[in-house]
Amino acid sequence: MRTKTIIEPFRIKSVEPIRWTTRAEREALLRAAHYNLFLLPADDVLIDLLTDSGTGAMSTHQWAAIMEGDESYAGSRSFDRFKSSVQEIVGYRHVIPTHQGRAAERILFHVMCKPGDVVPNNTHFDTTRANVEAAGAEAVDLLPAEARQPGLRLPFKGNMDVEALEALIARVGRERIPLVMLTVTNNSGGGQPVSMENTRAVSEVCRQHKIPLYFDACRFAENAWFIKLREPGYAGKAPKQIAQEMFALGDGCTMSAKKDGMANIGGFLCTNDDVLARQEKDLLILTEGYPTYGGLAGRDLEAIAVGIQESLEEDYLRYRIASTAYLGDHIAGHGVPIVQPPGGHAIYIDARAFLPQIPAEQFPGVALAAELYLEGGIRSVEIGSLMFGAAAQMELVRLAIPRRVYTQSHIDYVVEIILQVWERRAQIQGLRLSYEAPFLRHFTAHLEPVG
Ligand SMILES: Cc1ncc(COP(=O)(O)O)c(C=O)c1O
Repeated sequence: MRTKTIIEPFRIKSVEPIRWTTRAEREALLRAAHYNLFLLPADDVLIDLLTDSGTGAMSTHQWAAIMEGDESYAGSRSFDRFKSSVQEIVGYRHVIPTHQGRAAERILFHVMCKPGDVVPNNTHFDTTRANVEAAGAEAVDLLPAEARQPGLRLPFKGNMDVEALEALIARVGRERIPLVMLTVTNNSGGGQPVSMENTRAVSEVCRQHKIPLYFDACRFAENAWFIKLREPGYAGKAPKQIAQEMFALGDGCTMSAKKDGMANIGGFLCTNDDVLARQEKDLLILTEGYPTYGGLAGRDLEAIAVGIQESLEEDYLRYRIASTAYLGDHIAGHGVPIVQPPGGHAIYIDARAFLPQIPAEQFPGVALAAELYLEGGIRSVEIGSLMFGAAAQMELVRLAIPRRVYTQSHIDYVVEIILQVWERRAQIQGLRLSYEAPFLRHFTAHLEPVG
């Protein structure tokens, strides 16, 4: 029988101190950072939930593998180990290493897209959208309407709207759609999973129209775990089998190994198409490096080779998904509005519902993120009007959980701080912009309190 308490499936061998600051210090630090948490020094943050990308802890097996890194420029042993580990999971013929996910995206879209093309996705991540657009193509998100309601609990809120995909193909024509993408899990849509049934339906539409299907696979292992938990017929299957079944429905993928690769840097691009692979490797040589290292050190390839397998271990995935849900369920249980159900890698607080007194133009998400820092030194990120301007559909604050880094008591502390801010939410004021860059303004914006 399984116990109720899900523990961290590891012991801690190496520790990194975190530093307390006083409230007065945090007030001064926040003013100096112009109320923008990106501008804070990381040493002044107690619990850093800014992102789960590249911030995870590596295992003893990964550190041991790093010592085996073969730094040969061409034909390194580390590449062979990396390639066979990745290939065992994804099954694609060509595995092309890159320094991170967006480099794989840039090469893929540069090779496959031309101006006037259209790329459908359940939801493009911001770098994916930017790389599609940089190739002159249009990025179209095809999320069903119900997935845009934060409070609605559905098992597979990351699914693509298959009817909308068929309608898009009928409207713009197959020749203008060089590929379809599915992002698993759907990061911009709340870390929500895509079901195997939906993947199969999308794959069938693609095959019928002879359009290649690619996965944005950053969180493929978390997605496989959700399928095991929630989709009929998968409870008895191993996460790796589920991932293999999913990848077999597509023709290639892009990957940021900073997520479910369990590494601090790295990524890859895969394809079954020999002609495309040749063009992709030529571009890789131009900007990333030779195809057996692609901008990474041999030791990075080793860390990914081991980490990507660890991300599929059941004990790890059980703990990973349960600990994210633990944070979401504990704050939601006290009335804090969040995107439901809790996602795989992050909890998204609905700042519009948390701070109804603050209008969108006074950035409720930024105001809430600033309060969480002031109250307890927690760093999160706004995903709303500051990040997306007028295109923002929701006002969210994302609390992303780095892999294997924080323990349950850290998360209990985060819960306590959020509930303290929730208690005094009526006194929280909005912010106004005092400086903004011409694009991607959220990284460098300056703000000040309206009061
Ligand atoms: C869904 C998704 N795709 C692509 C990327 C880009 O990966 P990277 O940051 O390694 O360039 C990310 C990173 O957060 C992501 O979440």
